[in-house]
Amino acid sequence: MRVLVTGHQGYLGTVMVPLLQAGGHEVTGLDTGYFADCVLGAAPQDPPGIPVDLRDVTAAQLAGFDAVIHLAALSNDPLGALVPEITHDINHHASVRLARLAKEAGVRRFLYASTCSVYGSAGDGLVDESAPLRPLTPYAESKVRVEDDVAAIADDGFAPVFLRNATAFGFSPRLRADIVLNNLVGHAVLSGVVKVLSDGTPWRPLVHAEDIAEAFAVCLEAPVEAIHCRAYNIGTERNNRTVAEIANAVADVVPGAEVVITGESGADPRSYRVDFAAARRDLGFEARWSIPDGAAQLYREYRDRGLTADAFGSTFVRLATLRALGERGLIDAELRRVRTDA
Ligand SMILES: NC(=O)c1ccc[n+]([C@@H]2O[C@H](COP(=O)([O-])OP(=O)(O)OC[C@H]3O[C@@H](n4cnc5c(N)ncnc54)[C@H](O)[C@@H]3O)[C@@H](O)[C@H]2O)c1
Repeated sequence: MRVLVTGHQGYLGTVMVPLLQAGGHEVTGLDTGYFADCVLGAAPQDPPGIPVDLRDVTAAQLAGFDAVIHLAALSNDPLGALVPEITHDINHHASVRLARLAKEAGVRRFLYASTCSVYGSAGDGLVDESAPLRPLTPYAESKVRVEDDVAAIADDGFAPVFLRNATAFGFSPRLRADIVLNNLVGHAVLSGVVKVLSDGTPWRPLVHAEDIAEAFAVCLEAPVEAIHCRAYNIGTERNNRTVAEIANAVADVVPGAEVVITGESGADPRSYRVDFAAARRDLGFEARWSIPDGAAQLYREYRDRGLTADAFGSTFVRLATLRALGERGLIDAELRRVRTDA
């Protein structure tokens, strides 16, 4: 299949593209490249890419693709809270516009990276895809709106599917340090302390970046009836863990590391445990990576690729990188790339 992957130079995209290529797909990327240089170790081999802001995509750029995998977004809660209007502009409006243009251009499948954080605070019970959506942040809110608005334009020739991914973990050459397991392993390696700022009790569903990539690959090839306008939670019940359990898994694999739970960030209302049965049943998708295996992989990669405290606290933190691009005059207040050749 000819597949366009937006956000291909991000944390997940960098893991997903080679997996799709290995599956025989012809992949083109589309990305404004905010984090293109945020690489740990050797630079990855990117596919041919369209260097454009999502807000400026044209239908002509989408012609000829069988499927669009839409990952590009301002992709975490602190970022969304800092710039709520721009988060809605990029994550919501530009995403719906992308879907409309893709449909107009004859693209038949639209695979959207949504999130389990659409469930917000859900207590101790398992939530499945029919649970009420209670987004707690502008980021999660934008994901709900895209699901609704894109579902509304589905028809016989245009099949959207919404992959509600658990919080990712695991090594990607374009690392992110601002997601829980990657963050805790980094602290453990750099300081010997697995520092938990909450009280450790919130539930988090986790899934490895490679498993997310695999889920998208499965949705590219699934019978259209299995994906048409469906939402799927992507992850595995065995990785529904409390933050304290995740921290203990880290201390188990990083020699000499100890867990310190400070509780200084106060109560964290984002707590939910997720049911992943639908993707297993209807897509045959099963996430493979466990949290201990992921922690061990991260430990190895951080150590072997020479992770430094400086890079860990800035290069691989989305918010810090965008701020730095702004300070260097490379993006404007709306986070648009400033042309440097004019
Ligand atoms: N990583 C996770 O834990 C997780 C969990 C659930 C869902 N998701 C979703 O998966 C997707 C990818 O996440 P990620 O972790 O790879 O994020 P990321 O921040 O690493 O990558 C996002 C990519 O999108 C690009 N992008 C952002 N705004 C753009 C714009 N206006 N125009 C063009 N490109 C733009 C960035 O340059 C970047 O390469 C996001 O939609 C995210 O919300 C991620």
